[in-house]
Amino acid sequence: MSIAVYPGSFDPITCGHLDIIRRGSVLFDEVIIAVLNNSSKNPLFSAEERVRLIEKSTADLPNCRAVYFDGLLVDFVTKLGANVVIKGLRAISDFEYEFQMALLNKNLNPDIETLFMVTNANHSYISSSVVKEIANLGGDFADLVPKEIFNDVKQKIEKGR
Ligand code: PNS
Repeated sequence: MSIAVYPGSFDPITCGHLDIIRRGSVLFDEVIIAVLNNSSKNPLFSAEERVRLIEKSTADLPNCRAVYFDGLLVDFVTKLGANVVIKGLRAISDFEYEFQMALLNKNLNPDIETLFMVTNANHSYISSSVVKEIANLGGDFADLVPKEIFNDVKQKIEKGR
């Protein structure tokens, strides 16, 4: 059974993330979306909320599930019985950081492969940060996040005002 792990902060999940998850779910028997529970980043949504938003967005993908994790990614991947990490690349600017991460992870555990998937051109400009910025400033972000979670993001932003 082929299992891939798609890690990230997902604060919140965007249409770009969902596109990678969908395409990954065709390539692997199971895709586990691993949400980093990193309090130092001061996320908008708690790790539990981010997992829930991913579950809502991927309800039609039976071979995908979301979990949160702490610690080293490679250790978590091993614990899940997986050996592939999926990363999405939006632009050349992503590559430098992701290349460093892939080499560091390879050094930590040579059995784990990083698979880079190129983001759909329609989503190349989307990030969780821009979603939050546009939502905060009252702009329309309906095309940037999965429709299932649009109201959750809207409400969270309004609550924080
Ligand atoms: O969505 P993000 O914030 O770009 O995701 C980054 C993530 C979660 C993939 C990365 O920070 C990560 O793997 N963190 C876990 C700690 C770790 O293993 N770091 C890499 C080795 S130096």
